[in-house]
Formats: sequence, structure tokens, C-alpha cells
Amino acid sequence: MRSHSMLKPLIIKGKKIRVPIVQGGMGVGVSLHPLAKAVAQEGGLGIISSACVDRIVSKRTGKKMNVYESVYEEVSLSAVKGGFTGINIMAALGRDYNASVKGALDAGADAIISGAGLPLNLPAIQPPKDTALIPIVSSARALDIICKKWEKLGYRPDAVVLEGPLAGGHLGFRIDQVDLDSNKLENLLPPVKDMAKKFGDIPVIVAGGIYTHDDIVRFMDMGADGVQMGTRFLATDESSATEAYKQAVVRATEEDIVVAHRPGSPCGLPFRVIKQSPMYVSSLQKKRTPKCDKGYVLMKDAEGQYTVCPAKEDNENYFCICNGLLSSAGYNPDKEEALYTVGTNASRVDKIVSVKTLMDELTGAQE
Ligand SMILES: Cc1cc2nc3c(=O)[nH]c(=O)nc-3n(C[C@H](O)[C@H](O)[C@H](O)COP(=O)(O)O)c2cc1C
Ligand code: SF4
Repeated sequence: MRSHSMLKPLIIKGKKIRVPIVQGGMGVGVSLHPLAKAVAQEGGLGIISSACVDRIVSKRTGKKMNVYESVYEEVSLSAVKGGFTGINIMAALGRDYNASVKGALDAGADAIISGAGLPLNLPAIQPPKDTALIPIVSSARALDIICKKWEKLGYRPDAVVLEGPLAGGHLGFRIDQVDLDSNKLENLLPPVKDMAKKFGDIPVIVAGGIYTHDDIVRFMDMGADGVQMGTRFLATDESSATEAYKQAVVRATEEDIVVAHRPGSPCGLPFRVIKQSPMYVSSLQKKRTPKCDKGYVLMKDAEGQYTVCPAKEDNENYFCICNGLLSSAGYNPDKEEALYTVGTNASRVDKIVSVKTLMDELTGAQE
């Protein structure tokens, strides 16, 4: 039987988030200010995504905005109705990383959540003042490395997101480790909780495969301080995924959801997708002619210039994630095929609901 008891609030950097649910950042263009704002109004922590946000906001406003300006704009808009909001900035997006962090800090984001790589330098970019800095890890070892590096910079994580292998987006595991029993979220939590205690009782937020109110209660009973959820918020009215994307989520069965790897993401991490995604299908058939015209995942070359992306030359092993994900957020969908990323639980989604309906269900208020 479900309990009616209120979930315990999540306290981060002295801020009391009434509902301990973090709506995970979803790039490209899925979690923008409409979603984050709605989650914040329901008492959770709403998170926008910084990925490609300059193009998305420039198109929406009809005014050319750079990374800093568009991040500043989106963070500010997410907070207009009150509550707590922040931004997800992926470490893998090196070229725009510092400008995104500065825009978010200057706009007064409540939190910066950063993963898809280790955000080793995050506290050194600019003094964070009231903004909580929250790394995403998939192991106790990664948390140890980050805490030791941040200690040298005079900072301790304000919380940590522990993301297991059932999540949507990029996964922090080698492809052959995704299905290991030892990597199940319930098995990763105890050592990460211990590590978080060792560095001073850092709140631990668990993510990946959490679907129901009972799941939330179960993980909080195991010692989690909060949860982060993506897929369920993808399937809401307020998410900015295209209608075609949302309907693909509703239709997806268990067999339709695969971890893409060769062809996979040029970020080098396993990436969960719906196998019928047009860009995934094309890349399996090696149809797309490689073309780099967005450049968000470029890495530095020997001269320190951002010129390197595996998808630039090789369309047999990599798909062009910038264009695939921009298309699934409605940016030039007629020019590029869409790529739909989801968590394993997308197979359980059978309708699109409002954030209010979803939050009532998740908190147990519905009954
Ligand atoms: C559509 C989608 C896009 C995502 N994009 C990002 C992202 O840009 N950065 C990130 O750190 N995590 C990303 N994630 C992961 C989510 O923030 C969240 O941690 C994860 O989905 C939790 O698992 P769940 O989907 O089973 O709830 C994404 C997930 C989805 C479903
Ligand atoms: S090749 Fe594609 S995925 Fe790689 S940086 Fe260029 S636009 Fe992005």
C-alpha cells in the first residue's frame, strides 16, 4: 500500500526544496524554461539544459544571442514564478562550458548540475555565491576524484547526483558494464552514500529508472536524500520535445529501447535511444554524409583549438548528435533527422500528462 506521508524535503546549500524531486536536465531543448518553471511551481527543483541553447533561444526570440546571453535568459525565465530552478551543463560540451556556467551564475541559478564527464574545474570558473554546484557521478570513485580536486579549489559539492545505467541520455558506464548487477542503482548507492559522508554529509540524489512514488520512497528509505527523474518529465505537456518525439515515447516498447554504441554518440559514452529514431536508422544504414555545422561536442586538437569530433568524418561508428537532437527539439526538423533519447522506463509511458498531474502522482498527493 502506498503511504500518504509527505516525502522529506531536500535541503541543498541551505535551500529547502519542499518536494525532493529534481527534474533532470534534458538536452537538447527538451527541458527549457516552461518545464523547469512548472516543476518549480510544484515544489521540486526544475532544471533547464544548456545544450545548444544559443541556437534554440535565438530562433525563439528572433534575436541572435550568444551562449552566455541565452543561458542567462533561460535561467531567468525559469524562475519567474518562484520555486527552485537550475541548469544542467554537460562537461562533454567543452567549447561552451565556461560561458554557460558564467551565464547561469550571473542569472542567479539555484543549482548547476554537471555530468557527462567529470566537472573537475567547475568551482574555479567564477565564485558560485548562492548557486549550488552539483556533479553527476556513476561511481563512488568518481565522487572521490571530484571531491579531492574540488578540495584543492576550496569547494565541496553541495549535493551529488548518482546516475545508474537505466537513465536516458549518456550513460557513465562502459558499454560492457551497463548491465552488470554491481552497477544497479541500489547497489551503487551504499558506497556512494559512504563516500558522500566521508566528505561531509553531501546530499545524494539518485537517478535512472525511477518511475513511481513507491520507487521514490524505496530509494529514500535506502538513504537517498532525493531523486532525479528524466523520462517521466520528457512525457509532459510542458516539455519542449516535439509532438513526434512524445508520441514515439508513448509507442515505445521494451524492445524498442536500445543502448547505442557503434553507431553511437561522438561523446564516446553509451547513449540510450529509441531504435526507430530516424537518425539512428540512417546511421545504421550509413546513409548520412558527415557534415559538421553545429560543433557543440567539438574537442580540442593538438593546438588547443576546438576542431575534433569523431562524427565529423566517420558516420559508420558515430551519429551527428548535435543535429539529431536539435531536430527532435523542433529545430530545422525538415533539414535533419531526429534522434530520440529516453530512459528504459519510456516503455511504461502510455500518455502525455501535465507536470501538475505527474507531481501529484509522484508525491502521493493524488490519493
Ligand atoms: C531526453 C533526455 C535528455 C537528457 N539529457 C541530459 C543532458 O543533457 N544532460 C544530463 O546530464 N543528463 C541528461 N539526461 C539524463 C536525465 O537528466 C536523468 O538523469 C535521467 O534521465 C534519469 O533517468 P530516468 O530517465 O530513468 O528518470 C537526459 C535524459 C533524457 C530522457
Ligand atoms: S560532427 Fe555533428 S555531432 Fe560532431 S560537433 Fe559537428 S555537428 Fe556536432
